[in-house]
Amino acid sequence: MAYNVFIAPREIYYGTGALNAIAGVPGKRILCVTDSGVRSQGLVDKLETILKEKGAETTIYDQVEPDPSRETIGKIAELANEFNPDLIIGLGGGSSIDAGKGAWVLYENPDFMKCSVMEVIPKILGCVLRQKARYAAIPTTSGTGSEVTRAAVITDNSITPPYKGAWNAPQIVPDIAICDPELTISMPPQVTANTGFDALSHAIECFVLINPSDLVDSEALWSARNIFTWLPKAVAEGKNLEARDKMHMAALQAGLAFANGTLGLVHSIAHIMGAEFHIPHGRAIAYALNPVFEFFYKTGRRARLVQLADALSMKGDTDKAKVSTLLSSITKLKQDVGIPTAIKDSDLSEEKYFAGLDAMIKSYENRIALIPPNMKPFFIMPETIGEVRDLFLRAWTGEKTEL
Ligand SMILES: [Fe+2]
Repeated sequence: MAYNVFIAPREIYYGTGALNAIAGVPGKRILCVTDSGVRSQGLVDKLETILKEKGAETTIYDQVEPDPSRETIGKIAELANEFNPDLIIGLGGGSSIDAGKGAWVLYENPDFMKCSVMEVIPKILGCVLRQKARYAAIPTTSGTGSEVTRAAVITDNSITPPYKGAWNAPQIVPDIAICDPELTISMPPQVTANTGFDALSHAIECFVLINPSDLVDSEALWSARNIFTWLPKAVAEGKNLEARDKMHMAALQAGLAFANGTLGLVHSIAHIMGAEFHIPHGRAIAYALNPVFEFFYKTGRRARLVQLADALSMKGDTDKAKVSTLLSSITKLKQDVGIPTAIKDSDLSEEKYFAGLDAMIKSYENRIALIPPNMKPFFIMPETIGEVRDLFLRAWTGEKTEL
C-alpha cells in the first residue's frame, strides 16, 4: 500500500484572543512583516504591545503590496540581515504572510539574495530554514490558508510580462499559525465574500481532484460545510464573532487540505481571468467554479463529485441530480453573499471581456506548455482550444450545461 505525508505547522493557536499566544512563543528579536492596511486597523499596535510586554525587541516592515514583489521581499530580507531576528511574523492576508515567508527564505539562504524568482524555484527544495529564525503566521483574512501552506507566491516585475511564481517546499510551512477571529472583524463584506469563496474552492477543488484520503478529506469536508453554513452570516454581520471564527477555521482547514492535496483547473482559469482583468482572486474563483466543476463531472472526476455531494447532504434521486444540487448550492451561495453568478453581471464590459478572450486562451496554452509531458496524465484539463474557450464563455454567461 502506498503511504503519504501530512505536513502542518507545529503549533496552531485558534479561537478568540489567540493573538495573546504570541507572548509564549520563543523570540527575543522579532521582525513583523505586514501591510499599511493592517497597520491602519490598529492590529500592528495590538501585536507590538504584546511583544513589548514580553520584553522582545521588535522591528516592523509595513509596506507589503498586494501580490508581493521580489523587490519587496529583498528589502525585507535586507532589513532582517541588519536586525538579525530569531522570529519572523507574517501578519495580514496572504500577501503579507507570503512576503514574510519569501524574506525568511532569503535571510536564511544568502546565496539566493541575488536570484530572480524563477532562479530560486529549482533550488527551493534544498533551502535551509530555522538556522536563524522560526516563522509565525497570523492571518487577518479568512481565505488563502497561507498560514499553513508550503508556498510563497512572489511576483518578479523585472521581466515583461511580470512573472508570478511560487517557492514551494515542505520546510516553508510556518512553525506557528495563530488564527484569532477578532483580527478579521474589520474585513469589508465584499472581501469576506471573495476570500470565503477562495477558501471554499481550496476545500472542494482539492476534494474532487485527490484520491480518497481520510486525513485530507476530513479537513476539506468540515471546511466546506462550515463555509456553506457560515459565510452568509460572516458577510452580513461582520462583527459576529461566531461566524468569523467558523470562517477563520474553515480557511485554515481548507489550507491544510490543499497544502497536503492539490489544486487545479479552477485555480488556473481564475488566475488567468484575474491577471487579465484585475479581478480579485476569490472573485475570479467564484466565476470559474461552476463551469470547471461541470467539466470535472464529464472528464473523470464524477465519482469524487458524487462523494462530495453526498458528504455535503445534497439532495437528489440520482448521482447526477445530487451533483446538480451541489452546483445550484454554489450558485445560491454566490447570490447570498453578493457575488454575481456570471461575469456579465459584474462591472466588466462585454467589449473588454471578449477583447481579452484570445489572450486568456494563449495564457492557458502557455501554462499547459510548462507541464512536463509525463505529468500531464495527472492533470484534469481541457485538451482542445474549443473546450478552453467554452470555459471562459460560460464564466461570462453563467449558463449551465447539461451534466
Ligand atoms: Fe486560492
